[in-house]
Order: sequence, then C-alpha cells, then structure tokens
Amino acid sequence: MTHKIRSPIYDEIIAAVEGALGSSEERISKMREQATSVADMEAYWLPFTPNRAFKASPRIFVSAEGLYYRTDDGREILDSVSGLWCCNAGHNHPKIVAAIQQQAATMDYAPPFQIAHPKAFELSARLIDLAPKGFSHVFFCNSGSEAVDTALKIAIAYQRSIGQVTRTRMIGRERGYHGVGFGGISVGGMVANRKMFGPLLAGVDHMRHTLDMDKSRFTKGQPQYGEELADDLERIVALHDASTIACVIVEPVACSTGVLPPPKGYLQRLRKICDKHGILLIFDEVITGFGRVGANFAAQYFDVKPDLITMAKGMTNGAVPMGGVMAREGIFSALADKAGGGIELFHGYTYSAHPLACAAGLAALDVYNQEGLFNRAAELAPYFEQKLHELKGLQHIEDIRNLGLIGGIQLAPRPDAPGARASEVFARCFERGVLVRATGDIIALSPSFVMEKAQVDRVMDTLRTAISAVN
Ligand SMILES: Cc1ncc(COP(=O)(O)O)c(C=O)c1O
Repeated sequence: MTHKIRSPIYDEIIAAVEGALGSSEERISKMREQATSVADMEAYWLPFTPNRAFKASPRIFVSAEGLYYRTDDGREILDSVSGLWCCNAGHNHPKIVAAIQQQAATMDYAPPFQIAHPKAFELSARLIDLAPKGFSHVFFCNSGSEAVDTALKIAIAYQRSIGQVTRTRMIGRERGYHGVGFGGISVGGMVANRKMFGPLLAGVDHMRHTLDMDKSRFTKGQPQYGEELADDLERIVALHDASTIACVIVEPVACSTGVLPPPKGYLQRLRKICDKHGILLIFDEVITGFGRVGANFAAQYFDVKPDLITMAKGMTNGAVPMGGVMAREGIFSALADKAGGGIELFHGYTYSAHPLACAAGLAALDVYNQEGLFNRAAELAPYFEQKLHELKGLQHIEDIRNLGLIGGIQLAPRPDAPGARASEVFARCFERGVLVRATGDIIALSPSFVMEKAQVDRVMDTLRTAISAVN
C-alpha cells in the first residue's frame, strides 16, 4: 500500500522554485512531485493501532512547533495531549533542540557499563534535587516500560539483600497501566494488554481499582470517598502473607486507563499498610512526573513518599527516549553492602544514560525551571478543570474526571461496539484540527503546560462539537 507523504521541506522547496525559476506551472509541478516522497506503508507495523484501518486512511505528522503539529497535507493540528503525555513544554523547544544537536556532534554514544560521561552524573543529581527528600540514586533506562521492569527488579533484589528472600510477590492494581514489558503487563490491570500474552509472571496479585462512579461521578479532582479501598492490600496480605510480598506498584493518578485520580487519603493509607508489612511502595510516575500535576512529582503533590519512583516521558520533554527509576536512601546501600564491592545489580541497558537523552533531559529541566512551567501547569489547572467540566450534560457523557493538567471524559459505550464512539470523537476532533486521545470509550487530555486559555477553549469547543455530532 502506498501513500504520498509530503516532506516537511515541501513549502521551502516550492518557494525556492518560484523564486529561482519564476512561476512556470510545468516546472513547479515537476518540483512538487520531487518534494513529495512516495512511501510504501505496508512494512511499518504501528503500535496499539488497527493497522489496516489506519493505512486506508492515514494521519501523518511531518513537523511540530510549540503546541502544533503539521500534517503531510499542510494542516495545523493543535495538540491537547502533549504528543503522548510527554511534551510538557510544547514541541521543538529551541533549547532542547540545540542541546541534542550539540551533544550529537560532541559524543554520540558512550557505553554505560563500567564507564560514564559527565551528563549522566549531572542529570542524576538534578533529578535527585527534584525528587522528594530522602531519595538518593537514579537508574537510567529508555522508556516507561523499562523503568517499571527495573523498579520491580530493584524491589525484589533489595528485599533479598536485606535477607527477605521469600519476598518475591508483586502487587499491582486493576486498570493499572505500567507499560508493555512482561513485568509491566503482569502487574498492570488493563485486560486487553494482558490477555493475548499469557502466561504472565507468576506471583502477582492485584488490588481493586479506585473508580466508584456511583459515589464520585463528575468529581473535580480527588474523589471524596474511597480511602478504604486501600484496605484491599490487607486482603491480599492476609491471603498470601506479607512475608511473600516484595512491593506494590500504583500510578498515583491512573492515566492510561481513563484518568482515575486517587480518592482522598487513599495513597496515605496505602503507604501506612506497606510500612506495617515491610512492603516497598512504587509510584509509577511516568505520566505524573515533571509537573503534570503542578508539582515536581505526584509524590510531592499528595505528600506521600514512595520507596521507588519510575519516570520517563516528560523527563526529556519527549524529545529523546529515556526512562529512569529513583530509589530512596537505603535501597542502593543495602544492595551495595550485600554485593561487598561487586556489582550491586545485574541489570542495565546498552542505552542507559544515553548521551543524547541526558543532554535532552538536562535541557528539559532547564526549560521547566527557567520558564516556571510546573507553576504554569498549576496555574492553568483550575481553568482547564472548569472548562472540562462545562462539557457535563452533553449527550453520551457518563463522567468527567481531572487532576492537574490531566482530564478524562467517559462516554457511554455503544452496546455493539465498545470504543467506537470515542474513536469517532477522536477522528472528528482531528478533522477539526485538534489532537485528543481515545482510550476505550474515554477521551483523555493532557495539554502542554504552555497552553493558553484560548487554546483550552478551542479544545473544549471542538470536543463539544464532536461529542454532539456522534450517535
Ligand atoms: C504510568 C505508565 N507507566 C509506564 C508507561 C510505559 O511507558 P513507555 O510507553 O515509555 O514504555 C506508561 C505509558 O504511558 C505509563 O503511563
């Protein structure tokens, strides 16, 4: 299957031709043909995408700047999801672009095992500065999925290092999304992501999720009720015995499943139960980190200190793949003591602390800091919340949920075609020049922190039109 993809330099080439040759129709159309590359689309297997339907009607981005993407047919698309929850400072920030270019020209790659480079140290220290007090070490990887698998492995290895060798069980939560590695889908609770791939890791159990629409429908921010849902961990402890459990992993705000802010007091209670039973608490902050909830990390926003924090996405503003795990004091040292001078953790990736990713990460942190973007996210959040909840009352909307610059609109599924309604809303918004995200029958929003109120209005107006139009 072939599709003509317009190159990003198309406009420049046409302008140059017109300038150099005058506007001879024939010449221009010849150059137009050359500026348009013909790609065979068949070989590319898109992730989490119905490929055949996509290729019958592809959507192709060729460039980006600030809050906008440009498509191959020259349309501007307002991005209300920060790419995929990651471009918190908007696209192609000149400082991040320059840092990557400079690093690429200085040193493309350095092996991360038994050798290091200066930016890896610098970025680790800067991340620890951003973390809640009491965190001491950062382990680098290349994605959120790798961060999750790394954190699970650190948790089990740590328990072993302190003599708790039977603590190997990992507890996740229904509807959790922790990426797509076998560790992540095992502790994760999104059924479609699991059911094709069994058997998954043994020794995993799941707490129940925290959404109770009967009690919390259309709540702004954290639901009032549901703190006691954390006690589900006690049920699991009673079933398996604490001595078998290494860790619990949760997203502080469950995002990919359709935006479930934690009930008030829930995370605090989970922390207490973990402490009581010697279980490590992992916050998967791949989305909630780096200002998304208006604080450095959700751990600070909720004032709950986990033992391990996973991160990715906003870490480099999405510009270069990177993930990481931050460990609180005591975890690294226990492993190091146990190793007695040898390797503490038999784990790592060829691209751990990749120089380009570190350069992008440092530049992203500079931009966040110099432009006060986490505060900006916090300042925009109430307006975003207000406008989002003004959609209440439109046909099909069953619930609206939000926290920080994260929003979810839950639509009633069509009885015969779950997910179809939200997909159609997504497509209609795209036609009208706005990128939203559909996950199941939920529309998710996660705008960049540089979005203006007028652009929030445009996103909501577009959604209003789209939701009103679908049957
Ligand atoms: C909470 C959470 N964990 C892990 C991941 C996986 O990250 P990646 O797609 O970079 O592997 C995601 C991705 O959305 C996520 O939201």
